Amino acid sequence: MIINVVRNYCELSKTAADVVQSVIINKPNAVLGLPTGSTPIGMYNELIRMYRERNIDFSEVTTFNLDEYYGMSYENEKSYHYYMQRNFFSHININPSNINIPNGIAKDIEKECIAYDMKIKECGGIDLLILGIGHNGHIGFNEPSNEMIMNTHLTNLAEETVMANARFFKGHDESPEKAITMGLEGIMSSRQIMLLVNGKDKTAAVRRLLTRDKVSPEFPASFLHVHNNVMVVINEDAIEEFNLIHKHIS
Ligand code: GLP
Repeated sequence: MIINVVRNYCELSKTAADVVQSVIINKPNAVLGLPTGSTPIGMYNELIRMYRERNIDFSEVTTFNLDEYYGMSYENEKSYHYYMQRNFFSHININPSNINIPNGIAKDIEKECIAYDMKIKECGGIDLLILGIGHNGHIGFNEPSNEMIMNTHLTNLAEETVMANARFFKGHDESPEKAITMGLEGIMSSRQIMLLVNGKDKTAAVRRLLTRDKVSPEFPASFLHVHNNVMVVINEDAIEEFNLIHKHIS
């Protein structure tokens, strides 16, 4: 695991966008795994800037998003479909048929999940997966549990996740309790993973990740320690209260 500590959110966003750009330069038809949340917004803005300056071309790129709220349609402006269109896809030259996001209103959710994993495989797997991290160590929407689910699946969100996401809704009561998420296999079979960590509220999660007492589904991000190509880009405000970096780079 490579730990890259950056000075601020701007640097985090540029570093992340540079990694995406180099992957696409090396492989114009790269397959990307994409996150939502507040952390990657700056990276998406950087990528849009690169596109406008003709320094990146998404025409052959394929994307798979990590997750979507259950029961939320494409038109719902709180959905991750809407988020991705507004914050990224509508500003770049990606082919709409190359965009994949779990369908939160699929009639048959199980079938939808199987088809999603199948499509990732058919596309040759994910070249670069970008992740954020939840306060409780969730990746995608793989919540702490006593077992990790391998395939894309419908999941119950942890209470702290429902609370954390309430800021995007009219409050806790409207914050979704279920989501469809890529499972551990989709994440771990990606050839390269980049985890973005921003904000003081992530200090506890970063501490737990970097101290890596054990790999356990109780802290899903711990599985990143058993992947051989992971870069963690951390804004230093998320680690300011402790100094583990030199001790734990591997
Ligand atoms: C949601 C998303 C995750 C994301 C997390 C952190 O739970 N499903 O993929 O990593 O939020 O979001 P933020 O970047 O806003 O802290």
